[in-house]
Amino acid sequence: MLNGQRSACNLQNSGAVGVDFIGGKGRPVRSEPGDALALTGEVMVNLQANLTVLIVWLVDRGQTGRGVVSMTTESAIQGLVQPDGATSTGNNRGEIRCQNVYKWFGDAPVIADLNLTIAHNEFVCIVGPSGCGKTTLLRIVAGLADADSGTITIGEKVVTAPLANVAVVFQSFGLFPWKTVYNNVALPLRGAGLDKRELERRVKEAIALVGLAGSEDRYPAQLSGGMKQRAGLARALAIQPEVILLDEPFAAVDAQTREILQQELLDLWSRYQQTALFITHSIDEAITLADRVIVMGTKPGRVVEEIVVPIPRPRTVASVRRHEAYAPLRERIWDSLRASGLPT
Ligand SMILES: Nc1ncnc2c1ncn2[C@@H]1O[C@H](COP(=O)(O)OP(=O)(O)OP(=O)(O)O)[C@@H](O)[C@H]1O
Ligand SMILES: [Mg+2]
Repeated sequence: MLNGQRSACNLQNSGAVGVDFIGGKGRPVRSEPGDALALTGEVMVNLQANLTVLIVWLVDRGQTGRGVVSMTTESAIQGLVQPDGATSTGNNRGEIRCQNVYKWFGDAPVIADLNLTIAHNEFVCIVGPSGCGKTTLLRIVAGLADADSGTITIGEKVVTAPLANVAVVFQSFGLFPWKTVYNNVALPLRGAGLDKRELERRVKEAIALVGLAGSEDRYPAQLSGGMKQRAGLARALAIQPEVILLDEPFAAVDAQTREILQQELLDLWSRYQQTALFITHSIDEAITLADRVIVMGTKPGRVVEEIVVPIPRPRTVASVRRHEAYAPLRERIWDSLRASGLPT
């Protein structure tokens, strides 16, 4: 994925004004127009950028800065998505294990002693009050941020950096505005050593899977919110991940599109069955999608309850809502959220 990759990058300030960054250890860095900067951090593509200037957020261990950079940064970003080449074997290769995970920001722990195991091919949704550390946890699992202590493993691998078999889908679609749907989806695969035909096959297949066939040549500005999120999903699917991590992917679309996307994800997942960790604020969405719902509590973030969803698959959004277990489950998750610190 493009967003949130940790890497060194060479940036050029092509804007007309100087830009202040906060670099490593909180040191301020100033770049004047035309300056070249070599920075290490995580790149967040800001989609409000216009077509000629890309704005990149650099996140360096909690320090953030912003820079206006030239389009040449595209190639630097492309370099960030090289997979680490890791391929694991065995039937636990998609298993996620979080053991005794702690994360501090400043003096207070945001996540404390969090333990969670997600089985290979299991679909788990996390719900929890705003600020309880859901995104922080997902970023740690994705290898985009470090835990201060504890261990994350995916399959046999201890996570210390993004893994090749893990895809991330963010709420912001993360599409390059000047690239077509095809080229946005293809980007993570370029440089992965695929021959041209295989690359084309995988990109087209992923685009068709999410229902965007025919829109390959469109630019993001020509897509609706739902289509943008489908393109983001296609980009994740194209890398054929064993694990897919999704942070409120449907939060930015309208209620009807959201239900349609939920149904599409149910269908896709029943065909491909990757291990899925899906963060949502919607209890209905969690019950619809998950085998198990994890309720996180706040201050510090921790697992307060794990609730199995006993609704059989294949599911449709409608069949889940009609199921006799649905209403009691909803009540139970609400109760758990209230007890966990959700303002009521
Ligand atoms: N880089 C950072 N520096 C300092 N504090 C941070 C940083 N990232 C997150 N936090 C803090 O950590 C806490 C957890 O943030 P996080 O984004 O993980 O919450 P969340 O559960 O995803 O919330 P939401 O449901 O609103 O998305 C918050 O108090 C947030 O302010
Ligand atoms: Mg969040």
